[in-house]
Amino acid sequence: LDRKVRQNNWEDNNFINYKKMSENLAIVRKRLSRPLTYAEKILYSHLDDPEGQDIQRGVSYLRLRPDRVACQDATAQMAILQFMSAGMPSVANPTTVHCDHLIEAQIGGAKDLARAVDINKEVYDFLASACAKYNIGFWKPGSGIIHQILLENYAFPGGLLIGTDSHTPNAGGLGMCAIGVGGADAVDVMANLPWELKAPKYIGVKLTGQLSGWTSAKDVILKLAGILTVKGGTGAIVEYFGEGVNSLSCSGQGSVANMGAEIGATTTVFPFNERQYEYLVATKRKDIGDFARVYAKELRADEGAEYDQIIEINLSELEPHINGPFTPDLATPISKFAAAVKANNWPDELKVGLIGSCTNSSYEDMNRSASIARDALNHGIKAKALFTVTPGSEQIRATIARDGQLQTFEEFGGVVLANACGPCIGQWDRKDVKKGEANSILSSYNRNFTGRNDGNPATHSFVTSPDLVVAMTIAGSMSFNPLTDKLKDKDGNEFLLSPPTGESLPSNGYDPGQDTYQAPPADRSTLSVQVSPSSDRLQVLSPFTAWDGKDATNLPILIKAHGKTTTDHISMAGPWLKYRGHLDNISNNMLIGAINAANGEANKVKNATTGEFDAVPAVARDYKKKGIQWIVIGDWNYGEGSSREHAALEPRHLGGLAIITRSFARIHETNLKKQGMLPLTFSDPADYEKVNPEDRIDLLCTELAVGKPLTMVVHPKDGSAFEIKLSHTFNEAQIEWFKNGSALNTMAKNNKA
Ligand code: F3S
Repeated sequence: LDRKVRQNNWEDNNFINYKKMSENLAIVRKRLSRPLTYAEKILYSHLDDPEGQDIQRGVSYLRLRPDRVACQDATAQMAILQFMSAGMPSVANPTTVHCDHLIEAQIGGAKDLARAVDINKEVYDFLASACAKYNIGFWKPGSGIIHQILLENYAFPGGLLIGTDSHTPNAGGLGMCAIGVGGADAVDVMANLPWELKAPKYIGVKLTGQLSGWTSAKDVILKLAGILTVKGGTGAIVEYFGEGVNSLSCSGQGSVANMGAEIGATTTVFPFNERQYEYLVATKRKDIGDFARVYAKELRADEGAEYDQIIEINLSELEPHINGPFTPDLATPISKFAAAVKANNWPDELKVGLIGSCTNSSYEDMNRSASIARDALNHGIKAKALFTVTPGSEQIRATIARDGQLQTFEEFGGVVLANACGPCIGQWDRKDVKKGEANSILSSYNRNFTGRNDGNPATHSFVTSPDLVVAMTIAGSMSFNPLTDKLKDKDGNEFLLSPPTGESLPSNGYDPGQDTYQAPPADRSTLSVQVSPSSDRLQVLSPFTAWDGKDATNLPILIKAHGKTTTDHISMAGPWLKYRGHLDNISNNMLIGAINAANGEANKVKNATTGEFDAVPAVARDYKKKGIQWIVIGDWNYGEGSSREHAALEPRHLGGLAIITRSFARIHETNLKKQGMLPLTFSDPADYEKVNPEDRIDLLCTELAVGKPLTMVVHPKDGSAFEIKLSHTFNEAQIEWFKNGSALNTMAKNNKA
């Protein structure tokens, strides 16, 4: 295990450390003395403190040292802006940024890309210059979708990766434990802090039998989503095993791992297997494949490993599935689908078939899809519905251009879009139906929530394999079953489509296509990051001020929130996404969705200094201008939802000191601490009722100490003052964050020392 094998072909100084991993694992094995699942092995071999770490599934918080970080362009902006304020010369762990989310599909690949480069110029310039400065690999717009690039270049068996995108688990198809996180977590790893993950549970999926005919890897996860539903994988890692695994190509395993996100799983992993080895060889990483063979015993589950739940899927009996509309767990086998269309009154005409996305844009997907399109062309017919293709990467696009599949798609009537997310993330200037018009679309993507693809709530979006998308696009009908139903050729003669065929890997090797990678230069000392001071999309963060060391007195309550207050209520998405890189602008959405307990209304609170009602951000800004700190009172599970760090950055930016609730969602609570705020809870949750929105508050911050409650003095508008005890979960290190003004200030201070 002493070999020096590089993690990838792009970075010269980052190596795969199976030796250290096996040493860590030996320590944990001694302590636990029980067989381990494969994902457990990956996590435990990346523990920060294998000797001291508490390990209980579903209970402890594991402190981990990931091998890599990856960010997509929408989430990378705030992550990098925050990293910049840590004052470090370069990232502490290998990191890449991928430009894929901001390219709108309109007319076709090249033109759409050129337009996106123009519209998003300031964002791309910022990311490119920051990546160069901080030693981050930068994949330019047009390079492809983050998860396809990771599979082709960076994933390796046994590795641990975090990515600021929910479909990061795609790399599980290459035996990597790859987990989707928020920007704040990515910043921690970039700055060399350990990363925390609640010790997951493990769902084992045993694959038996063999895939054949119209059934593809995608159907494994479509079926599983039907069994487990969108919540069934929450807090768990899904781990595949069994003799059926080798029946799935490596990229097929990636498709299954990718869509594990749709059942809420932390991630999905496949053990190292022959199909992964073949893929590593084909993507010019034979040395990694050979190294993995040496470490193979630890790249699969131990005999007798315990799973919290086991599900068996027999591939030989598995039918192709179509899931949807509106939710990815409504799974219907193709044999029953036509009846379901009728029974539910789903629009029968198929308007658009879309293949690609990070889930299904591999060479194999394109190859099999093209075989079906060619079959139709050979019978003199083409796509009846509109048809689009998003290649997963420039390498895939160039290879299918060379091998002919791309021409087949065009001949078939398809539009080949840019190598990017496109319609999958709503970047789609759809023209064929009007908003509000009920219609059906079928894609090989992963998510099909209302409005996701085209912003039209009446669009019935279904997900399936690329094979079925192409077949049904030919028929133009949702009730067509290619396994049993005949089509008419150009002369009116009936024929049955042949099942898809095609190699999973290109026999002539991959064509890398255009060079779309920007490596960070060796000498970065003189580089600067480009942020225009007049930009409304990007703003350099100034460090937050440190605590003044005093108790806070006479604070107004900005809002006493009643009921559910999710991160969407605190920092809304939708049109606000544009300002993800501009803290001051995005702060105009702060808490606008929260319900004011005083009047039952959203975004209408009383300004304690003027007595006037106004929007929440406006009142906060007024307090800030007047030098008045404020607090928020919240209800149960405040901050549930996503890990979006903006929900913590905004109240801090607008002058908040503390958020006092009945309870917190844990990630949001940690995010608040990171930004230098005080997340506190009523020691007696009933005290929530005792505080009125117009009361003034003293907060005895000087009492803040590990494990000790803190006193809040309530001064009611009428009546005498009384005390309430508040609890918190700060540890020593986190108290330093509060004192210094934020975790990043603390890092910057330590880096200077
Ligand atoms: Fe992009 Fe859609 Fe995947 S947005 S990363 S292609 S889920």
